[in-house]
Amino acid sequence: MMKSGSNNRTEKGKFGRHLATSNRGGGSKNPATPLVIIEHERRDQQQLCNSLELVADQLREKVDGYLCESIYKKLRFDLPVYHRNEESLFGLISRNTPTTLEVAQIIKCVRQEHAIHNCYADELYDSLRVLRSRGDIQSYDAIGYMLRCCFETMRRHLKWEDLTLMPLADRYLTTEDLANLSAMLAENRRDIGLNIV
Ligand SMILES: [Fe+2]
Repeated sequence: MMKSGSNNRTEKGKFGRHLATSNRGGGSKNPATPLVIIEHERRDQQQLCNSLELVADQLREKVDGYLCESIYKKLRFDLPVYHRNEESLFGLISRNTPTTLEVAQIIKCVRQEHAIHNCYADELYDSLRVLRSRGDIQSYDAIGYMLRCCFETMRRHLKWEDLTLMPLADRYLTTEDLANLSAMLAENRRDIGLNIV
């Protein structure tokens, strides 16, 4: 159900302007609003996809062990936080949008896809450890297949979220929602044993 009263909504298009002007790693004059943090995390997921693709391309030659270490850490420690943060955002969007049934169905699909991505990550941990230490690989084809499934599905998923849910944040989140979202992001990171930046 859409909340009554629109005077405390965020300015329309605010999220988009943040995206256009913010820089990863500092330098932006915008405060680190929860939406900016989540957008940075989504770009980090895009970069993770690029890294997975690079390792898949390197499999038959020399694999970058440091890159495998970096991917392992992203999948193991960061991706679960990113998923939780998105789901916190989507929960708030779902409460505020007038088309709650459709949005609820989209969010259900998104949650299922997050779970699938976590399964891919679980499957890849051991292989990434072996690749990092340049150990013996049983089947390069199997690892290559898993890597490609992982980054291809993640890219499609991110694009789908960009087309469906992310634009709704601009339209329907209130300033109170943003304050709540900030608290949720801090809690999500604490739950996984990390300190929020
Ligand atoms: Fe997602």
